Amino acid sequence: MKRSLLFLLTVLLLASCGRSSVKPAADPARAANFNKSYPIVDSLLKVMTLEEKIGQTVLYTSDWDVTGPSIRAGYVDDIRAGKCGNIFNAYTADYTRRLQEIAVNETRLGIPLLFGYDVIHGFRTIFPINLGISASWDPELIEQSARIAAREAAAAGLHWTYSPMCDICVEPRWGRISEGAGEDAFLGSAVARAMVHGYQGADLEDTLTIAACVKHFAAYGAPHAGRDYNTVDMSERWLREFYLPPYKAAVDAGAQTVMASFNEYDGTPATANAHLLTEILRDEWGFDGFVVSDYTGVMEMVNHGTSADLSDASIQALNAGNDMDMQSGGYSEFLKKAVEEGKVSRKTLDEAVRRILTVKARLGLFEDPFKYCSREREAALTKTDENLATALELAQESCVLLKNHHDILPLRQGSSVAVIGPLANSADDLLGTWRGAGQVDGVKSILDAIAEHAGHVYYAPGCDVSKPGQKGFDEAEYTARRASTVVMVLGEPCDWTGEAASRTSIKLPGEQTELLKRIAATGQPIVLVLLNGRPLDLSEESLLADAVLEAWYPGTMGGEAVANLLFGEASPSGRLSVTFPRNLGQVPIYYGAKNTGRPYVNIGAKYESRYLDCPNEPLYPFGYGLTYTTFSYGKPVLSSDGFGPGGSITARATVTNTGSRSGTEVVQLYLRDMLGSVTRPLKMLRGFERVTLEPGESREVEFTITEKELSFWRKDMTFGAEAGEFRVFIAGDSCAEDFVTFTYND
Ligand code: BGC
Repeated sequence: MKRSLLFLLTVLLLASCGRSSVKPAADPARAANFNKSYPIVDSLLKVMTLEEKIGQTVLYTSDWDVTGPSIRAGYVDDIRAGKCGNIFNAYTADYTRRLQEIAVNETRLGIPLLFGYDVIHGFRTIFPINLGISASWDPELIEQSARIAAREAAAAGLHWTYSPMCDICVEPRWGRISEGAGEDAFLGSAVARAMVHGYQGADLEDTLTIAACVKHFAAYGAPHAGRDYNTVDMSERWLREFYLPPYKAAVDAGAQTVMASFNEYDGTPATANAHLLTEILRDEWGFDGFVVSDYTGVMEMVNHGTSADLSDASIQALNAGNDMDMQSGGYSEFLKKAVEEGKVSRKTLDEAVRRILTVKARLGLFEDPFKYCSREREAALTKTDENLATALELAQESCVLLKNHHDILPLRQGSSVAVIGPLANSADDLLGTWRGAGQVDGVKSILDAIAEHAGHVYYAPGCDVSKPGQKGFDEAEYTARRASTVVMVLGEPCDWTGEAASRTSIKLPGEQTELLKRIAATGQPIVLVLLNGRPLDLSEESLLADAVLEAWYPGTMGGEAVANLLFGEASPSGRLSVTFPRNLGQVPIYYGAKNTGRPYVNIGAKYESRYLDCPNEPLYPFGYGLTYTTFSYGKPVLSSDGFGPGGSITARATVTNTGSRSGTEVVQLYLRDMLGSVTRPLKMLRGFERVTLEPGESREVEFTITEKELSFWRKDMTFGAEAGEFRVFIAGDSCAEDFVTFTYND
């Protein structure tokens, strides 16, 4: 038998039965085979032994070292014995082919392996970190970046990425805020959708597409005190309104897999939380792909204190709807006995296996298990000029200009620049956290890229990025005085963001602020470029520098992107997708706050919702960002006084470029529901559009508002709109004050 059985089944069944479509895709135009079922899966389930079925629920990391792939004997034996059906952290066409050959040629049924990897913001060509990507407010370009990532990864033998990360976050202490799309469910949903479309394309069987994995389900972005892996607790209403929409948007876009998060929700670890994994995900949302645990998530339920041991944890997780065990080894070791003893039903196991095999079938792996491993494609599609051009464009679009006093930017081409700061000459930090298989070779530091535009460049690091010490200050000051402008590149080391990188301070680490003070004392004009992965407290820095450009970690082409923006070859167009507080004491702070019973309206009044020592407003609000021109907005105009169920209203505003350079504005639509059966946010983003205007040019931007944009989880936990008055704001950030009103009649 061996592989022959599989292929016999494949050929016969596909030929005779064809494929049946179980239900329409969420986005049928794009989702050609995203929810087809495959007869081969049923046939396999009939002939698989219990051990073979369990093997399909097992996912292990490969051994990987810096000199190249090496295979750990244990895993190879597991694959060969049919005890491990999925591998992650193995890539390159050659390596995946070698492992796949073992699965296909040496196991009884020859079921192909699924290869997964964290392709988070690029695979070889690295795009900005995801918080930066979301600041572009450009779903089309984001989709394109995900498509490029998918192509590069697929050509290296990968089938599956652990992305998009859909965790809404208002907690800058948490290092993983860098991996998400910021604080807002509406923007987060647009980004999630774009990424799934980019990875999966219109057809999963296409050798240039890969399956997406929506993570970390759910609410991983709300750990208490911002400490990674910490407890999450919030009301179901809050969860559904502010945290679930991006995961749902990704599922609706056809995402094939979902990763359970490390945290608990309502007292139960997400890994075994049937309410999340089965009731919401499958029963409410109709998700028909498979759920994978996070890394050792099953095992960690023993530490959570809700499972007595790994066996107990494995039983709970599978029964709750967690189909695949990443790296705990619990399913492999304990499920057989659990099934034999009736603690896990055969039906439950079969369902999990069916879901996993179906995703493999949708990827076309039963037709050709090696179709993704192609040396030729790997060479041809990796880091192409086109990929790099997109990386440059997205890096430029993701940078946010926070301050530009006296229009100090853009700098004059050929002018002299003193480049100062510990991150100025680092190519490595530009790639950020979770950089896939991205390599630093050929990546230009900001210093090197500036040198290509400036007449003279002087450079001094000044200090270490995180360690104490002011030895370099004198040299930095001397260097600063030599040029007409100083560009300081400060921030966080890139490994201070991402997983297990929580901080209790959101100030610049080390002595960097002191260095900035020293340079500012020279009176030289200062442009501050920031590389960081979370909202920082910039209250001092924003006063000391004349201009501030938030560049996040901008990726492979980040050096060039920053230099192009500084010298005006490109204009900044990014807008914050997350609020920057004045200090950590304001956290959590987000634009969609509620009014409270004592809103702060009477400046100076005591018994109002405010601080004694700090304004309520953030330093930089959500949606904010400058460019090299200015825009004005006309008052919004509505098409009517209101509408009812099934109807709609359009809201328009005229936006004019009032400056002297061409520029891109992100026009944002916010709504406020004035009366609800439960409290409503002061503003809700419900639309946005990037608009590029020449000097003096005006454009009318139009948004359509339907019942959907007004809907929320009402008092009785049904989802829908309520009758009443709504305010409409159209503006360039979330601080908009001018509004018009309409009435919704139900
Ligand atoms: C992370 C996931 C990641 C997984 C596999 C975990 O530690 O939380 O985001 O996908 O590792 O690398």
